[in-house]
Amino acid sequence: MSTTIVTTKTADSFRAAPARRRAALTSAPSRPGRAHRPAPRPDNHVIVMFGATGDLARRKLLPGLFRLADAGLMPDRYQIIGASRRHMTDDQFREHARQAITEFGAGEPAGEAWQAFARRLSFASADPARTLSLVEAVAAAERQIGGTPGRLFHLAVPPAAFEPTVTMLGSAGLARGSAVIVEKPFGTDLASARALNTTLHAHFAESQVFRIDHFLGKESVDNILAFRFANGLFEPVWNRKHIAYVQIDVPETLSIEGRADFYDHTGAYRDMIVTHLFQVLGFVAMEPPTSLDARHLRDETAKVFDALKPIDPAHMVRGQYTGYHGEPGVAPGSSTETLAAVRAEIDNWRWAGVPFFLRSGKSLAASRQVVTLGFHEPPLRMFPVRRADTPNGRRNEVTIDFADPGSLTASFLAKEPGAQMRLGAAEMTFRYGDAFRAAHGLDGYERLLLDAMHGDQSLFTRADAVERLWEVSAPLLDNPPPVQPYAPGSWGPEPSLDHLAAPYHWHLPGVS
Ligand code: BG6
Repeated sequence: MSTTIVTTKTADSFRAAPARRRAALTSAPSRPGRAHRPAPRPDNHVIVMFGATGDLARRKLLPGLFRLADAGLMPDRYQIIGASRRHMTDDQFREHARQAITEFGAGEPAGEAWQAFARRLSFASADPARTLSLVEAVAAAERQIGGTPGRLFHLAVPPAAFEPTVTMLGSAGLARGSAVIVEKPFGTDLASARALNTTLHAHFAESQVFRIDHFLGKESVDNILAFRFANGLFEPVWNRKHIAYVQIDVPETLSIEGRADFYDHTGAYRDMIVTHLFQVLGFVAMEPPTSLDARHLRDETAKVFDALKPIDPAHMVRGQYTGYHGEPGVAPGSSTETLAAVRAEIDNWRWAGVPFFLRSGKSLAASRQVVTLGFHEPPLRMFPVRRADTPNGRRNEVTIDFADPGSLTASFLAKEPGAQMRLGAAEMTFRYGDAFRAAHGLDGYERLLLDAMHGDQSLFTRADAVERLWEVSAPLLDNPPPVQPYAPGSWGPEPSLDHLAAPYHWHLPGVS
C-alpha cells in the first residue's frame, strides 16, 4: 500500500493574507540575511561572458540571462559582452544567442522582449595578446549605461583557461571593483585549487569571487535550509540519535555526450562528487547558522567540511561504462571513472558514526537527484510487517528529490484498514510543482547569476571550503581504486556498490 498526500497550501494564500496576519505567521525573531534583500532588480551591470561560444553559454547562460530579462529581473540598464578567442561580429553573436535561446531556453526569442535583449549584446575578442579590444568594449558598455555600473566577469571557459583569464583581467586593469564568477571544477586537487586561489587573490579580494556550483541554486537544495531550520518538526530529529544513514545520489542516463576533452581529464569524482554532492552534503549536515547571510551560512558549511574525515580509498568505488573507450576523444586505455561512489564520515557531535553515501555516474539506469535520510528503527517491533512493505531493508525515510521542480517525501509504516493490526508502507509527499507556482522558480544558473549581480555570496563556495574538500580527497586521488566495468543502462558495478553501502542499501524512490 502506498498513500500519497499532497499539500495544498499555496504561495498565493500567504500572499493574500492581510499584513497583520502575515506578521503573526513570522512572529519568531528574524535575522538579517538574504531573505531580506530589498530590491528585486540588481544595480546596473556590464556582464562579460568568457566562453561565450561554448557549450555552457549556449545551454545555460544565454537562455538564463534572457529568462531573467523577460521576467523583469535584470538591472534597469545592462550590457552583455560575449568574449571568446573565436572572432565574431556583434550581429553574429546576437544570432548565436538567438539560436541558443531557441534551442535551450524556456521562452521564444521573439518580439519586443527579444529585441530589447539583443540590443544589449555585443562581442569582443578574449585574446590575451589583444586585451585592448576587451578594455574598449567594457568602456563603451559602461558609457552606454552611464554612471558607474557593476562589472561581472563570468569565466565559462575550460578549467585550464581560468588562471590565464584571471591574469589577463588583472593586467588589463579590469579586476578592480569587479566581480568574477569562476566555473567548476575549481582545481583538480589541493595543489591546483590553492594555485587558482592564489592567482585569484592576486587580482580580486575574496568578496569579489563567486565560485559557482549550480546545484546550490536549485530551489529544492535551498529548501533543505527551510525544511530544517524553519520547522520545529524536523530539526530535533536531524542527528545521529535518529538518523542511521544519509544517501546523496545523482545517477544520470546521459553518457559523456561528446565532452571527452573535459571529462576524460576530470572523471565523475571531480565533476560531480567534489563539485556538487559535497556542497549538498554541506546543507544537509550544517549546524543552524546564526543568519542566512553569506558569512554565517558559509561558516557553517566550512565547519562541516572541516569535520569530514579524509576519505579512505577502501570506501570508494570507481566504475567505467563499457564502451567509454570508444567515445571520440577518450585516451586509449583511459582509467577515468564514469561512476564514483564514496562513504564519507563527519566527525562531529551531530553526525559521528552516521555514514554519508555519495554516488554519481554516467550512462546509468535512471536520472535522479536525491537525498535520502534513513531513520533508526524503533527499539521494539510489535507489529507484523509484510516483507514486501519494507523492501531492501528500508526504514522510515525522508527523501528530498532536488531535480527541478523538486519534491519532499516522508515514508513510514501505517496500519492497513481492517480488523487486523497489519502495517503497510505509506508516504506523504510535498511537490513544488503542485503546491507553489513552480513556473516562477528560476533554474540554478538563473538564480545564481542574479545573486552574483546582487553581490550575494551565500550560495557560492569559499576558498577555504573548496580547498578542504580537495584535502579530504587526497587519499583517494593519490591512491585511486581500480575502475570496474559496468554495462550502460545498468546501476553500475552493483556488488561493490552494495558492499560499500552495507549494512544499508542504495535506495531511490520509484526504484526498488
Ligand atoms: C555539470 C556536470 O556540472 O552538472 C555534468 O559537468 C552534469 O556532467 C551536470 O551532467 C548535471 O547538472 P544538471 O543539474 O544540470 O542536470
